[in-house]
Amino acid sequence: MRKLSRWRQEIERKLITQAQLARRVRDLARQIERDFAGRDLVVVSLLNGTVMFLADLLRHLPLPMRLDFIGVSSYGEGAESRELIFTKELRLDVRGRDVLLVDDILDTGTTLKRVLAKLRELKPRRVKVCVLLEKKARRVERVRADYVGFSIPDLFVVGYGLDFAERHRNLPFVGVLRPQYYQIG
Ligand code: PRP
Repeated sequence: MRKLSRWRQEIERKLITQAQLARRVRDLARQIERDFAGRDLVVVSLLNGTVMFLADLLRHLPLPMRLDFIGVSSYGEGAESRELIFTKELRLDVRGRDVLLVDDILDTGTTLKRVLAKLRELKPRRVKVCVLLEKKARRVERVRADYVGFSIPDLFVVGYGLDFAERHRNLPFVGVLRPQYYQIG
């Protein structure tokens, strides 16, 4: 067997394969197409983790739409102490429009809760949330997604846009990181 490169060795196993991702993303796009047909759609995507999911989702979404991004990053551990920093503000006007908010993972819900509150101040007609992954076990905030690719257990996942210390985003599958790489002590 070909020797894995060092960074690939940090991955314990694949959780969701490329084929599974492709199938599910197509299903989500079909659902979204049905729900938003004929609407004035603005897709708002959160940087940076959505990069792969968004690109694949949009190429299967044959609807007139506009696209914009919100940059948001979190620092610190745990939902209580986590600080969110907005690195890019929305530029498009969403007033009276239908917004599809796309994120890679719904974890504690802190990010989505803050972003949804910010978006709603801009008076869109409605906002629907689409996430590739969700970890139900970790939810702290009362926030739910309308479209969910996969519900996953509480594992440290990387790949297909998701990172560990900004690495592994380019893996074409969702993998589980070996605990020794993120556990301290
Ligand atoms: C990650 C992820 C979600 C958020 C989910 O963002 O992209 O936006 O955390 O966690 P929560 O539900 O507990 O708030 P991160 O700050 O790691 O930025 P990134 O997208 O650039 O990886």
